[in-house]
Amino acid sequence: ETTRVAIVGAGPAGLLLSHLLAEAGIASIVIDQRTREEIETTIRAGILEQGTVEVLDALGDFSRARTVGHRHDGIELRFGGEGHRIDFAASVGRGVWLYPQHEALKDLIAARLDAGQDIRFGVSAQRVEGVDTERPTVVIADAEGTVSEIRAEFVVGADGSRSVVRPAVGGSSSEGYFREYPFAWFGILCEAPPSSDELIYSNSPDGFALISQRSATVQRMYFQCDPDADPDAWSEAELWDALQLRVPGTTLNEGPIFQRDVLRFRSFVARELQRGRAALVGDAAHTVPPTGAKGMNLAVADVILLDRALRALLLENDERLVETYAETASQRIWKAQHFSWWMTSMLHVAPDASEFDRKRQVGELTSVVESEAGRAYLAEAYTGWPLA
Ligand code: DHB
Repeated sequence: ETTRVAIVGAGPAGLLLSHLLAEAGIASIVIDQRTREEIETTIRAGILEQGTVEVLDALGDFSRARTVGHRHDGIELRFGGEGHRIDFAASVGRGVWLYPQHEALKDLIAARLDAGQDIRFGVSAQRVEGVDTERPTVVIADAEGTVSEIRAEFVVGADGSRSVVRPAVGGSSSEGYFREYPFAWFGILCEAPPSSDELIYSNSPDGFALISQRSATVQRMYFQCDPDADPDAWSEAELWDALQLRVPGTTLNEGPIFQRDVLRFRSFVARELQRGRAALVGDAAHTVPPTGAKGMNLAVADVILLDRALRALLLENDERLVETYAETASQRIWKAQHFSWWMTSMLHVAPDASEFDRKRQVGELTSVVESEAGRAYLAEAYTGWPLA
């Protein structure tokens, strides 16, 4: 069968792209190997930049980011046992929204299905062929293993960090720029009231912790752990001890822990983001460590650029924006890579950190919170640079 744009991956990037293309009258098919239920219930990130919320406003009443989500006008950086507020509103006049990614996905799926979008759950991409021709093809397999093809005018890889589209774009699935980190995050969801009005990013001699939120009754918290940690090896009491130890000077509201996971993290940018009639967006193109919450927001920024490039190509036969997509997208990607790396290295304690490293880190944190320019850079990057 045929469509104009074949989109592999029904995450935030793929679904948003299908929505924006449809607004321009460009038809697409979105496939995802996961079930709808899996997509709508997997716990992911929680922070949307103001610009991301404004993009989601295009869904009309389907976007609940402003009604169910909560605006945050700052965060707390905590170190040396004291909290320091970074006031986004005062620094840059912008904010962020605490709105879980899976809620945004429910909104996107509902809006797309309501508009008659062809979304195929439980369908996996096997490989992509013919990206150097004007009719690239995605070879797909349904849940029963039946193989068929989608022929399109353009193929988009929005299929996450283990992208099947990436080899067709870059010649290999791993070619790119990497950085590993010697730690991971232990994440929990618990039933408790919030411990603070705003998110707390805490540096302590025992490592990093992030006190985030989900609602009045459910909280999300993370603490730095070994990448090989086994989530089931910890008792609830041990988890609370680990968290409390990493936010000295604060007392956390404790409650039953009903979900736990270990998030390994790394920095990655694929060497090639576009080739012929195929391009990568979101985690298929790059991965950032979670500190600073750039992942989903960066995916949205890629999609804004690719949408514009595909409109030029498919409506006006103008290939120029597709050809410059990688270069244009890279500018924001590398700013976000830097910010995510910086927040990560400023706040975590590497297992081999020397006394010098620890003292330098406190010097860095102090420089940021005491400097108007330091606070403004953090606020600017966290709330998000202007979208193209
Ligand atoms: C959350 C995750 C992040 O990586 C972050 O920087 C802030 C919040 C969260 O899941 O709530």
